[in-house]
Amino acid sequence: MIVLALLVLVLGVTVLAAVILFSRDAGVGMPVHRCSTAHLQAAYPFMTEDGLGGRGVYIGRQVLAGSFSFDPWDLYARQLLTNPNVVVAGQVGRGKSSFVKSYLWRQQVFGRRAAIMDPKGEYGAFAAALGVQPIRLAPGRGVYLNPLDPGPGSDDVGVEEVLRRQSSLLQSLAAAALGRDLRPEERAGTDVALGAVGRDGASAPTLPQVVDALLEPDPRSADRLRTTPGALAAGCRDLALELRRLCDGDLRGMFDGPTSVDVDWDGPAVVLDLSELFHSDALGLLMTCAAAWLQAAVARPGAGKRIIVVDEAWAILSNLGIARWLQSSFKLSRAYGVSNIAVIHRLSDLTAVGAEGSAAVRMAQGLLSDAETRIVYAQPPGEVQAATTLLGLSRTESELLPHLGRGVALWKVGQRSFVVEHHLGETERALVDTDGRML
Ligand SMILES: Nc1ncnc2c1ncn2[C@@H]1O[C@H](COP(=O)(O)OP(=O)(O)O)[C@@H](O)[C@H]1O
Ligand SMILES: [Mg+2]
Repeated sequence: MIVLALLVLVLGVTVLAAVILFSRDAGVGMPVHRCSTAHLQAAYPFMTEDGLGGRGVYIGRQVLAGSFSFDPWDLYARQLLTNPNVVVAGQVGRGKSSFVKSYLWRQQVFGRRAAIMDPKGEYGAFAAALGVQPIRLAPGRGVYLNPLDPGPGSDDVGVEEVLRRQSSLLQSLAAAALGRDLRPEERAGTDVALGAVGRDGASAPTLPQVVDALLEPDPRSADRLRTTPGALAAGCRDLALELRRLCDGDLRGMFDGPTSVDVDWDGPAVVLDLSELFHSDALGLLMTCAAAWLQAAVARPGAGKRIIVVDEAWAILSNLGIARWLQSSFKLSRAYGVSNIAVIHRLSDLTAVGAEGSAAVRMAQGLLSDAETRIVYAQPPGEVQAATTLLGLSRTESELLPHLGRGVALWKVGQRSFVVEHHLGETERALVDTDGRML
């Protein structure tokens, strides 16, 4: 009897031990091993990044690790980035604009002001929360922004630099409107026309003044190019007529006069609402004029750390001349402490500019090397190859791209990669909702 009882006891203990061991192995209920992420990182090296540290604004959670914060100025100071610019790419509805809005909102705590080009008119709630009135642009509204404005800090920037910016803008606009590169005489013609208009030195040149100076050059301008006024006018006529569209054609009444709005450049944000122009075939030209006006005001010494956002930037990038202009303005950013953010749909938006395949690819590569932070939301399978080539993605990263959920993006910051789920707070949800009409 005693032997039988002992046998039952031994059997019972064995079964219990087997159940415990099985449940441990299967991870049922009982944790096999608990440790901090710091220890886990040592146990499983090369599995995941440890983030960029806790400085800057909180973005969300790294899918395979802890929280994720970001601040381009801090990373620049720590030599983890060589420029502060950002490209955000992703399919429609993946959370690109929501990320930008909440990022700008959170950066307010650090006193970083924002200037936003809003082609869809979706930053209204964001602006209202900051107590800012968006500037609405449309033909005939009586709101003028002069893209040739030297900006409030022109004395610090210098006359030469102001002229260079004005000339680069005019040439990009004209090249975009003409659909080709400018001829040497056209390029020289815009420079002398700008010089002629600025000769009185009184106020900022306007587009109609430059167009008049191109259509009817004065003898002094012609002299500078060792030609006659008639020959100069003939050489620049096509260019003048294309620029005229912004002054006398269907696009008049926005960029063809002295700036008529009084902007508080020291306020938290400036929002340019271009939604009434969103379906214009000249959206790229109009966005470029508006961006030039913003840049002149914001990119100057002593303006503080600013963020310039061009949402739906693919519209600007659809033309090589304008894309080059955007790239050159990206280059300026470091000198003035400005962080540009360009929002596009696909990485191939960058290479789709113009017919010149190799020039377009070079421009795209240039723009990306001037934007060392690339935030890539889900891409369709057909786009993965372009993203992989342009961003130098690993195989795992490219396989991941089509499967990223809403609000989850692959962050390439300098040489480092992170998969980050962007978290929205309750207040922020109200600022970012673009689904309202769908739901
Ligand atoms: N991180 C997120 N978490 C939850 N919902 C989100 C997140 N990001 C975006 N959304 C929702 O998705 C919708 C579309 O986002 P939006 O930023 O407008 O997309 P995109 O700019 O990529 O077209 C928004 O209405 C927003 O409410
Ligand atoms: Mg958007």
